[in-house]
Amino acid sequence: MELLVCGGAGFIGSTFVRERVREHGDRVTVLDKLTYAGRRENLADVESGIRFVRGAIEDPRAVADAVAGCEAIVNFAAETHVDRSISGPEEFIVTNMQGTHVLLEAARERGLRYVQVSTDEVYGSIETGSFTEESPLAPSSPYSATKTGGDLLVSSYFHTYGLETVICRGSNNYGPYQYPEKLIPLMVLNALAGDSLPVYGDGKNVRNWLFVEDFARGIGHALVNGLPGEVYNCGGPDECDNLTVVGRILELTGRDESLIEFVADRPGHDRRYSLSSEKLQGLGWRAQVRFDAGLARTVEWYRENEWWWEPIRSGAYREYYERHYGRALKA
Ligand code: NAD
Ligand code: DAU
Repeated sequence: MELLVCGGAGFIGSTFVRERVREHGDRVTVLDKLTYAGRRENLADVESGIRFVRGAIEDPRAVADAVAGCEAIVNFAAETHVDRSISGPEEFIVTNMQGTHVLLEAARERGLRYVQVSTDEVYGSIETGSFTEESPLAPSSPYSATKTGGDLLVSSYFHTYGLETVICRGSNNYGPYQYPEKLIPLMVLNALAGDSLPVYGDGKNVRNWLFVEDFARGIGHALVNGLPGEVYNCGGPDECDNLTVVGRILELTGRDESLIEFVADRPGHDRRYSLSSEKLQGLGWRAQVRFDAGLARTVEWYRENEWWWEPIRSGAYREYYERHYGRALKA
């Protein structure tokens, strides 16, 4: 296929690009603004097989340039970190909602298939059981509200204009190339450096962990086999509370619990996420990586790829960390 992958220089987008180029021989154009979270290094091993356009999805000219010759748009581009959306929601509205609108218009003008990469956070928090695609949308944070807004625009383009849209909602991803503001890479790098591990609240919030390569394959299934107008949940095989995740990271890095530091809770912190993926399984998808094995692979990857994370940890991320956590990282 000839694909436009927006946000393809980020964590999940780059994993998806790698998979489509290597396993399916797709021709891929990546459109990415290269925010703090997007890096050309993430695509280093497929660089020769892709076309890269630096630009923002909310910029119609950049989109028109990038989309030329493509049959489908897969949109990963987003502001993605919940904590940053709490301290500054505006960029989230621009990228996650206005940007989605610009991409939908480009798809409509050209009659392209459109896949929106979305999140379980649009359903809000669930104490017991799992969300299905029919569950009501009840986002809690500015991040999840703007992702919900994006999803609703996508559905409206299917209903109103007959655009061939598919939405794929993933649960919490982890794996190589994840920016270290997110729980797992943050805790892994802090543990390796002997820094404290900041656990929000009581550490009992539960997430439904999905290895990034499984999500990339799930989005591929939605792209190729998904029915127009449909939503597909893509949840991980295991649920785990944050303290348990941190405990396993301590074991894998050879550190002890004295590094754990309980810090102020995130405002509006969702207690538990859980997705039913039966509908996507009906398209032939299965999660292949269990949490223990995926976490061990992830810790190993961060150990072996200091070239990737050292420039992040010594750059603007240090300022973000100090501002957000009120303390400096070790040098
Ligand atoms: P990320 O933060 O690692 O990467 C986002 C990418 O989008 C970066 O390359 C960034 O440069 C690019 N980008 C940001 N704003 C842009 C703009 N205005 N125009 C063009 N490019 C822009 O994100 P991720 O974790 O890889 O998430 C990718 C997608 O998957 C997002 O839509 C997110 O909501 C969704 N998602 C993430 C998770 C998760 O656990 N990380 C789970 C489910 C769904
Ligand atoms: O569920 C899918 C979502 O997962 C994606 O849509 C988002 O883009 C992605 O950022 C992620 O959101 P979360 O808020 O669940 O992920 P995060 O890694 O920020 O936090 C995971 C859990 O860990 C959450 O309960 C908050 C907690 N946490 C996080 C950080 C960064 C801590 O206890 N300490 C921390 O320092």
